[in-house]
Amino acid sequence: MHHLQCILHAQRCLGWGPLASVSWLLPRTCRAHSSFSGTACPSPEGRQEDGARKDFSSRLATGPSFQHFLRSASAPQEKPASADVEDPPPYLTVDELLGRQRKVYLETYGCQMNVNDTEIAWSILQKSGYLRTSNLQEADVILLVTCSIREKAEQTIWNRLHQLKALKTKRLRSRGPLKIGILGCMAERLKEEILNREKMVDILAGPDAYRDLPRLLTVAESGQQAANVLLSLDETYADVMPVQTSPSATSAFVSIMRGCDNMCSYCIVPFTRGRERSRPVASILEEVRKLSEQVLQLIHERDNICKQIHLPAQSGSSRVLEAMRRGYSREAYVELIHHIRESIPGVSLSSDFIAGFCGETEEDHLQTVSLLREVQYNMGFLFAYSMRQKTRAYHRLKDDVLEEVKLRRLEELITVFREEATKANKTSVGCTQLVLVEGVSKRSATELCGRNDGNLKVIFPDVEMEDATDSGLRVRAQPGDYVLVKITSASSQTLRGHVLCRTTLKDSSAHCSPE
Ligand code: 5AD
Repeated sequence: MHHLQCILHAQRCLGWGPLASVSWLLPRTCRAHSSFSGTACPSPEGRQEDGARKDFSSRLATGPSFQHFLRSASAPQEKPASADVEDPPPYLTVDELLGRQRKVYLETYGCQMNVNDTEIAWSILQKSGYLRTSNLQEADVILLVTCSIREKAEQTIWNRLHQLKALKTKRLRSRGPLKIGILGCMAERLKEEILNREKMVDILAGPDAYRDLPRLLTVAESGQQAANVLLSLDETYADVMPVQTSPSATSAFVSIMRGCDNMCSYCIVPFTRGRERSRPVASILEEVRKLSEQVLQLIHERDNICKQIHLPAQSGSSRVLEAMRRGYSREAYVELIHHIRESIPGVSLSSDFIAGFCGETEEDHLQTVSLLREVQYNMGFLFAYSMRQKTRAYHRLKDDVLEEVKLRRLEELITVFREEATKANKTSVGCTQLVLVEGVSKRSATELCGRNDGNLKVIFPDVEMEDATDSGLRVRAQPGDYVLVKITSASSQTLRGHVLCRTTLKDSSAHCSPE
């Protein structure tokens, strides 16, 4: 039987060896490690030699003060944003912690938190020099991110472990040993029971121990089992940017908290994931910002995504935006518009506006007029404000803009919007555009209606045309077809033109070529 040796890795903040008794002082800066027997870590007894004592005293004299730890304890979020490679424990060098291109296969079970945990674990291992593989056969390390929520979930993992056992025993010696790890809730719930029951499991890492993965894998590399199942009060992995693990994923989760304090009487989660703690807001915002950037990038580079963004401004006056509690100023909004236009050249923009909100002055209204001119939207939805019961404005503000003033302002906004949209849309005249056919035009049975890449309506006569992918074939456009349309006129709402041919998204080489 292995005995669990618990070492508090205090080196990062103290500059000297293990000191288990101060753990309560150092909730963030120190990290606890436990590893199974035989790791090359110094024993507490060894430290009591005279020489070590002297060394201890001199290091203590130059070390950080008590105040330092109090500061660290009260400001857990002051951790540097990206500590690329963690400080090694005293018995390992940074080099020994590196993955050296070993290939990791990650398998996720259970909830979205586990998907997020997988992304965090991978982010940590990637930084440490590991490679990722989606091919089980070529893996040097297999990590299962596990679930304990119901008995069946655990049974699935046990069954999987039995399958993996075969892989491990069949592996050619020349390839070096295959290492298997259990991560997450099951590691936390069963702890060393897993190592005892399945001798082929090499590492265990609980949900708060993923930063320790490089060390655990290094220990395992030397042929020993390694585990860290300590829970933390404040680990949120705030500085670890999750790496999207599936390139074909259609959604991404942003985790904002970990753990649970509810203690529902049937539920294991508070015991496997530990106390509830929230990620610092700044780190959540940073992750969301990065995701938004990726979305803009995708809209820019993919032909099958419409280049149109709806950004409801509601007002061009920062004063009114504040009264509306929109959370942005005119300046921030305009800055975002510039950023989007730079990221997606030719993007089509639309917006919503409310005329005559509570307290709106003539000056505020003119600010909205100027925003419409400045942005030059392609599409707009403009409304006169109508007070709604139950809203905050209903309880706290006064609907003090006269009805006729609201309507006059609305008319002015509509006029300016139309002038600007007409100007913007007229730049398409003479261009050949790819249009997705929707059906017969509402106004005329002899015309078809579709949408261009900016989601703008395009009307064109329903006539026979050539099929670009099958020359000689004459067809009539059907809903769902792509056609090339030469734009001949534009208004504030629609474009008109004549159809050139039927095509496909792939084959279309729609380009703007004014005559
Ligand atoms: N009065 C007028 N317009 C409103 N909108 C929402 N609530 C009101 C209201 N009480 C508009 C906003 C929103 C759109 C869906 O409807 O512009 O973006």
